[in-house]
Amino acid sequence: MFSPGELRKELEVIRSKTERPFNLNFFSHEMPVPDGAREEAWNALFADYSAELGIDPAAFSSGPTRMPFNQEMADLVCEYKPAVVSFHFGLPSAELMNQLRTSGARIISSATTLEEALWLESRGVDAIIAQGYEAGGHRGMFLADDISTQMGTFALLPQIVHSVKVPVIAAGGIADANGVRAALALGAAGVQVGTAYMLCPEATTSAVHRAALKSDSARMTALTNVFSGRPARGIVNRLMRERGPMNPAVPAFPLAARASAPLRAKAESLGISDFSPLWAGQNVSGCKEIPAADLTRELAGRI
Ligand SMILES: Cc1cc2nc3c(=O)[nH]c(=O)nc-3n(C[C@H](O)[C@H](O)[C@H](O)COP(=O)(O)O)c2cc1C
Repeated sequence: MFSPGELRKELEVIRSKTERPFNLNFFSHEMPVPDGAREEAWNALFADYSAELGIDPAAFSSGPTRMPFNQEMADLVCEYKPAVVSFHFGLPSAELMNQLRTSGARIISSATTLEEALWLESRGVDAIIAQGYEAGGHRGMFLADDISTQMGTFALLPQIVHSVKVPVIAAGGIADANGVRAALALGAAGVQVGTAYMLCPEATTSAVHRAALKSDSARMTALTNVFSGRPARGIVNRLMRERGPMNPAVPAFPLAARASAPLRAKAESLGISDFSPLWAGQNVSGCKEIPAADLTRELAGRI
């Protein structure tokens, strides 16, 4: 979510589509202090690409950035009353959490280590998502930034289950009914599946992203920070290969995204996925071009 204006639009869409309880997800990062020199050096790494695509390099330093969850968003969320509000990268302030709770929302967040799970439980979350290393998209890590601390789902899940009292939701690499059953056998109260839904017609997955998911290259994913400044898992593409996949010079999240955004827009308009974040987990075997409801029934089928 970039701004409260976008959030209101999204909430209106949800309200027009369903009266069922729904979940809203936010990033609860802190906005970094801009570092002009670092951003300039980063932008310079993209100069060849902008020349190749005929883009004005000035486009790199402008553009919206992803805003953290704030008071204005909390007021909007309380107006629309989602059943669950979930966070990535920790939690917002105790005041904002209390406001959400008072509106009736359950609050959940992702943990990528046992330490993060204990931190979340001590702040009163209603459930914890155990996000394994396999998972597609941004890693929810917030107490450490060293990716060697990150564990696979079936190593992380039982350790969290044994150490906290709240329900634990397993995420990462789960792509079929056997995977769901395995997670439940290890004590998960539920599962969160992302990658497998990305070819469903309801998903807003772009054309270049869909093509990548259907290609052999989908078998090669990596953690990269080049698109946003934080580690996230995606299908390896040209930008990841040539500037990453992890680059120590990257500006802080979310400011790094400004450099690749104009390249991505231009390249995608030409059908090229070289500069797009092709988020996907390590297990793409469950991706199917079927309605999300059917896929959900398949995932639940043999429990
Ligand atoms: C395309 C994509 C976008 C994602 N965006 C978010 C997000 O905005 N917030 C979040 O908490 N998790 C996000 N995730 C992570 C998922 O919530 C979940 O942890 C992950 O997809 C589970 O692993 P799997 O991809 O192997 O199924 C995203 C995942 C994918 C694949």
